[in-house]
Amino acid sequence: MSGMSCDIIPGGIYKISFPFNDISATRARPALALSSPDIYGDVRFAFITNTPPQGMETAMELQQPHYEGEPLPFRSFLRLEKVFLLNRKIVLKELTKLGRHTLAEIQRKMILSAVPDFYSSAHAQERFVTGKSRINYAGRVYDEREITTLVDASLDFWLTTGRYAKEFEEKFAAFLEVKHCSLVNSGSSANLLAFMALTSPKLGERRIRRGDEIITVAAGFPTTVAPIIQYGAVPVFVDVELPTYNIDCTQLENALSEKTKGLMLAHTLGNPFDLQRVKAFCEQYNLWLIEDNCDALGSKYFFDGEWKYTGTIGDIATSSFYPPHHMTMGEGGAVYTNDAVLKRLVESFRDWGRDCWCLSGHDNTCGNRFNRQFGELPQGYDHKYVYSHFGYNLKATDLQAAIGCAQLEKLPSFIEARKRNWLMLREGLAGLEECFILPEPTRDSDPSWFGFILTVRENAGFTRDHIVARLESSGIQTRTLFAGNLIKHPCFDEMRSTGRGFRVSGDLANTDMIMNNSFWIGVYPGMTPEMIRYMIEQLMLTSTR
Ligand SMILES: Cc1ncc(COP(=O)(O)O)c(C=O)c1O
Repeated sequence: MSGMSCDIIPGGIYKISFPFNDISATRARPALALSSPDIYGDVRFAFITNTPPQGMETAMELQQPHYEGEPLPFRSFLRLEKVFLLNRKIVLKELTKLGRHTLAEIQRKMILSAVPDFYSSAHAQERFVTGKSRINYAGRVYDEREITTLVDASLDFWLTTGRYAKEFEEKFAAFLEVKHCSLVNSGSSANLLAFMALTSPKLGERRIRRGDEIITVAAGFPTTVAPIIQYGAVPVFVDVELPTYNIDCTQLENALSEKTKGLMLAHTLGNPFDLQRVKAFCEQYNLWLIEDNCDALGSKYFFDGEWKYTGTIGDIATSSFYPPHHMTMGEGGAVYTNDAVLKRLVESFRDWGRDCWCLSGHDNTCGNRFNRQFGELPQGYDHKYVYSHFGYNLKATDLQAAIGCAQLEKLPSFIEARKRNWLMLREGLAGLEECFILPEPTRDSDPSWFGFILTVRENAGFTRDHIVARLESSGIQTRTLFAGNLIKHPCFDEMRSTGRGFRVSGDLANTDMIMNNSFWIGVYPGMTPEMIRYMIEQLMLTSTR
């Protein structure tokens, strides 16, 4: 049998001699061309069989809608793992052709099937060598799944918010048992949106206005507070208590004024603040509660007789998916709430301030795109371009969301690992109570820890800076509790000097102690017991010497 000359195009199905290395063979097989012939006349062919292969992951049954030409006259299974580079001479005749979209799906599967091997060679974990390897306080934990979903999203080339974003929002909300989740491009953006949603005129008397006061703490991350100041509301700083590092609820009544409109607080390093007291205070005075849940994803709190995730008890809450956090998308964040009105407001501010809620790439979801009247616009003005707020564009891309979807599958195991690592440190360091204030979970809470915080006692015989320097030189990465005392930072210079734009209620003695004496080390899921033992050993050595 000899080869015949026909145009070979990707997607064409050809009858080819079999065995493939023998052009005088009497048998023949169908095969799908995956490429055009190269300069040597070689073509990549995928093998087609009529018997269902075992384990169908790498096979695909070809059915009528897949074809552009006549279907093959027998049950046909494409074997994606059986790809051969064969010369065009082996082709006997053209049989039929697959549709363009089917070919694209097949090519997608083939690209994705290459990811696990790439992951193993390019992203293999380095082995930890005690005393030599560095122990970071946090890091991405991922495998081929994240790269696969990322490549999958990149092949869509949708780029903006799309199918993965929708999947993520639904699954994340389901995980937290909260009604609405809006994906955004960072935790800081999430905080900005959660706050700005509460300034919407659509909330009537309850809206936060410029000059209104929001109770918060100075011992934490700057972008929990920044939205308050940027808008022109007034942060009222209250001290925190140790060893929970959360707001001192005994100070709440003192901090209250006629202008108080809400509280915006983070669950410090995963440790929930006293939600029972804070929520009761909010209810008593009709205040908003924004939970910055960026460092506490997976933490639980026993509230009204049941265990609930932090971030689901206040009015609105935020997450960050920056790499050190409980799960990552590189850059990314989320705002979540049980309140449908707040969800619409968040998405309006997120999506340029628009009134329309059509998903990206969709038009006229409400069916009233051209027949309503808004503001002083002409009747029927295109709803897609009606703006009810002065908004931003803080959307995430589908590439980020795709990574998030894969990370979400791992989230329960990440949370468990964080708890396990924290406990191992807590037990291992119990003997150092005399030198350090050791962390404690808040009553009625089950924290999904972000880190393990230590405060050097005044009479420890060494300083925080001393021990941090020793740990860092032993390869153990440390962090301060973010800003320590935010008011002492250069961004506050002007406000501090004029005394305007913020208020301090009581003193911030513990906040200052944290700024001077506290630091933390990691508990992230990439840590092994070996690493934790080394950290314990080094802390013991450094603090007893
Ligand atoms: C408590 C808290 N809120 C907000 C953020 C900001 O998140 P992002 O870095 O995603 O903007 C962080 C960042 O680490 C944080 O720790």
